[in-house]
Amino acid sequence: MENQIFEKVDNYIIDLFATEDDALLQTRNSIELLGIMQQSISPIQGKFLQTMMMACNAKRVLELGTFVGYSAIWMAKALPQNGKLISIDFDIKVASLAQKNIEATGLFEKVELKVGKALEILPELIAEKVEPFDMIFIDADKPPYKEYFKYALELSRPGTIIIIDNVIRSGKVLDENPSDERVVGVKRLNQYLTECKEVTAIILQSSGIKDHDGMAVVVVNRS
Ligand code: DHB
Ligand code: MG
Repeated sequence: MENQIFEKVDNYIIDLFATEDDALLQTRNSIELLGIMQQSISPIQGKFLQTMMMACNAKRVLELGTFVGYSAIWMAKALPQNGKLISIDFDIKVASLAQKNIEATGLFEKVELKVGKALEILPELIAEKVEPFDMIFIDADKPPYKEYFKYALELSRPGTIIIIDNVIRSGKVLDENPSDERVVGVKRLNQYLTECKEVTAIILQSSGIKDHDGMAVVVVNRS
């Protein structure tokens, strides 16, 4: 009963602000081809990412965890003509499906998919001294979340917005000694966010068409 109202309200918000076009719908449903669990963000979260991109005038966006490309499509849609999204995933199966999904939208010129381990690709980007990213979305495997975040900081500038998905995990973060390494990973990150002097951070919890969870919203401070 309680869940029902959250789902209904999610659908009310989606109808108002976050309707999906055919490309988004097809991308969301494309996981059926792989027979894996749905991990895409919700349409509201897609619109939230777009809204945050507007707040930081995002021309360069980095994503960790492409999955089937659903969030990449939301973000690519909000990029200006010369904008660029780099998205990293280590799983070649989901990455090739993401490539197809993105090609079907006509947004492929703005999106560069990199297949490989983010823990290897991020230090390479840092060593290459790439231009800082305006927004960074972390939605990859959970155990190394803190390490991902530290690399993200090195690839940011004052004013960069970093958003991290799944930092509440149905409230499992309340466990003092969680056995699930994913919960351990997000708790390490959440704790680090409270200690990191370089950022202002908060977590927004959500409940609705996706499981109860939360996103951390982090702004890199003025230097
Ligand atoms: C999981 C991962 C996600 O990114 C998500 O949004 C939901 C669940 C998972 O690994 O369980
Ligand atoms: Mg996620």
